[in-house]
Amino acid sequence: MTTIASSPRLHLRVPSMADLDALAAMWADPETMRYIGKGVPWTRDEVTARIERGARAHAERGFCFWTVVRNDDGAVLGQAGVTAIDFNGPEIELGYRLGREHWGRGYATEAARLAAAHATGPLGITKLVAVAYPENLASRRVLTKIGFHAAGLSDLYYGVTAMTYRLLA
Ligand SMILES: CC(C)(COP(=O)(O)OP(=O)(O)OC[C@H]1O[C@@H](n2cnc3c(N)ncnc32)[C@H](O)[C@@H]1OP(=O)(O)O)[C@@H](O)C(=O)NCCC(=O)NCCS
Repeated sequence: MTTIASSPRLHLRVPSMADLDALAAMWADPETMRYIGKGVPWTRDEVTARIERGARAHAERGFCFWTVVRNDDGAVLGQAGVTAIDFNGPEIELGYRLGREHWGRGYATEAARLAAAHATGPLGITKLVAVAYPENLASRRVLTKIGFHAAGLSDLYYGVTAMTYRLLA
């Protein structure tokens, strides 16, 4: 399993079917999925398709939503990475989501920072965008902590009204 980048507590690796049980359990939780897409939990089949699509995107373009793994015990905590926004781009979006039991320990900030640094460093992406539901205050805080700047409300992406954020490398 290919490691993309690592920090003191976490590393990012290319998603694979080894992650399916952990990710399917996390993304089946309505509370966790409330601010993702239209707010509907994902089925195991959908998570399978997304893992396959992520691995393919990584092979083709060098990026996707990678799997976030804790260094000391190998636990899968969630996903963080970059992807073409709204499936089409052209902007590249930073995104992250963790299983609910892992919230509130700074893991999202650490994983998001790692993904953004890999995207703007080795991958040479000069501009990242991010979107968050206005009421998703924890996510908005993560973005400002890692240096993103708020760029106003937009309904351009995913068919919802979201706060947009930008980071210029
Ligand atoms: C959003 C999410 C990634 C945050 O993960 P996390 O590991 O708890 O985040 P961190 O601990 O790194 O940082 C969260 C920050 O938000 C703050 N925060 C948390 N809840 C908050 C709230 N209701 N209001 C204001 N700030 C809040 C925390 O205090 C912390 O800031 P601080 O370090 O200044 O104290 C996590 O809750 C999640 O995966 N949610 C479901 C998926 C999702 O919404 N993803 C983002 C889509 S845009």
